Amino acid sequence: MKDIIAALEAKRAAARAGGGEKRLQAQHAKGKLTARERIELLMDEGSFEEFDMFVEHRTREFGMEGQKIPGDGVVTGWGTVNGRLCYVFSKDFTVFGGSLSRAHAEKIVKVQDMAVRNGAPIVGIFDAGGARIQEGVESLAGYADIFMKNILASGVVPQISVIMGPCAGGDVYSPAMTDFIFMVKDTSYMYVTGPDVVRTVTNETVTHEELGGWKVHAGKSGVADGAFENDFETLGQMRRLIDFLPLSNREKPPHRPNFDDPLREEASLDRLIPDNPNKPYDMKELIEKVADEGDFFEVGPDFGKNIITGFGRMDGSTVGFVANQPMTLAGVLDIDASRKGARFVRFCDAFNIPIITFVDVPGFLPGTRQEQGGLIKHGAKLLFAYGEATVPKVTIVTRKAYGGAYDVMSSKHLRGDCNYAWPSAEIAVMGAKGAVEIIFRADIGDPEKIAQRTKEYQDRFANPFVAASLGYLDDVIMPRETRRRICRALKALANKKVENPWKKHDNIPL
Ligand code: HXC
Repeated sequence: MKDIIAALEAKRAAARAGGGEKRLQAQHAKGKLTARERIELLMDEGSFEEFDMFVEHRTREFGMEGQKIPGDGVVTGWGTVNGRLCYVFSKDFTVFGGSLSRAHAEKIVKVQDMAVRNGAPIVGIFDAGGARIQEGVESLAGYADIFMKNILASGVVPQISVIMGPCAGGDVYSPAMTDFIFMVKDTSYMYVTGPDVVRTVTNETVTHEELGGWKVHAGKSGVADGAFENDFETLGQMRRLIDFLPLSNREKPPHRPNFDDPLREEASLDRLIPDNPNKPYDMKELIEKVADEGDFFEVGPDFGKNIITGFGRMDGSTVGFVANQPMTLAGVLDIDASRKGARFVRFCDAFNIPIITFVDVPGFLPGTRQEQGGLIKHGAKLLFAYGEATVPKVTIVTRKAYGGAYDVMSSKHLRGDCNYAWPSAEIAVMGAKGAVEIIFRADIGDPEKIAQRTKEYQDRFANPFVAASLGYLDDVIMPRETRRRICRALKALANKKVENPWKKHDNIPL
């Protein structure tokens, strides 16, 4: 018995040693934590239970038979995050570069299955070089098994990917199918094919960062939903994110008691909208002044900045905020903003999270770049997402709601439950100047007449009362009472029941 216990301890020690002291030190020297250190930071202290520590690869090719490291390059298991169940897998770059063998894939699939069966989120931590090159098709099969589980888990349990080193080749597509991807600044990068292949195929010379660093994915491609300074901050933020999310689609969003009065008034909001309708203001200020204790977890802060998306709480329960941001491109809807907003709305709807929408939108962005880039299809994504969503939807028009963008932004016509406007709201087909230049084209040479017509149009439409008189708005409210009205609306909508017609699935314009 003593011998067996000693053998067990030796195996455990070998697994914990990963790729050996030298490689662990190299990992630290790059400013990265190890796979196990990362799990310790993600999970509550002492809560992590590891599975499959003794799994080894079964490859015989290229001398691999003699190179086995227990665990085979990925640490898997479960623990708790602030007391709530959470599954995890964390790639160990010190073991064969975290590359994926068939056995390594089976370990990931096991925790994916358990997360779905037991209804809890799964976090994947990536730091890996793609397919285990010594394995060939076995490795490809392993990837496909993981992809398949990602697809089946989508909309059932929250799936979060954290990129904390290289993430190349086969490793990119599993994160791509999860709900959120976060990166670590300067130490992580993601691409389908690396700089060497790019040089061979296209003759381009690029660095890892230029090809797939955080600035590319969190700022330009929109592949990532954000990036943080280092491993510590990133994992702390993942704990914060998980706190906002329901464990599965079978649950209501978590409720966290707090001291913020749901009836709190915020007098400063009465002065948020500038006198000049063309002057920007920061929509984030509104979100932070309305949400419980000003706590707002922003999703995608550096991409499609003209729309803000993220999680907060109202009267203790999680909500998703979607808001046009007048500080960037006047809050216009373009391709990036539409894609970003649509994906966020669909996540909220899949996981029973009510959606609060703040509207200040001058329309869709005109131009050849947008049209040639498919603005019609991308804009339709946001329209479709809002329309199909059956969660409680509360909408507040703070200022502009022009044209098709008025319809899109959770309007009454897309089954908005409570649609309010501030007195500063302007709801019309377009801004007064543009409208007058079209309907009074003959007067364009006469500035006095144009000014008079513009004023007439403004007086007629630059207000919320036309929409309110038609019942398209439920009420015109004072800005200061926004929090109270939202909290009350959500209470009234707590048992909302709406079902879409039966279908196998919809066909959202992808
Ligand atoms: C086996 C690998 C490996 C891999 C890295 N290693 N990638 N072993 N299979 N895919 C090993 C290295 O041999 C090395 O072992 C250790 O991991 C660290 O790697 P380094 O190259 O020294 O690290 P670094 O300089 O930081 O570079 C990291 C890297 C690079 C950029 C990720 O390792 C790399 O380019 N790897 C190959 C990437 C790749 O082409 N993967 C296959 C993609 S095809 P030692 O013993 O020296 O420590 C693919 C298809 C799947 O994934 C498609 C499914 C849909």
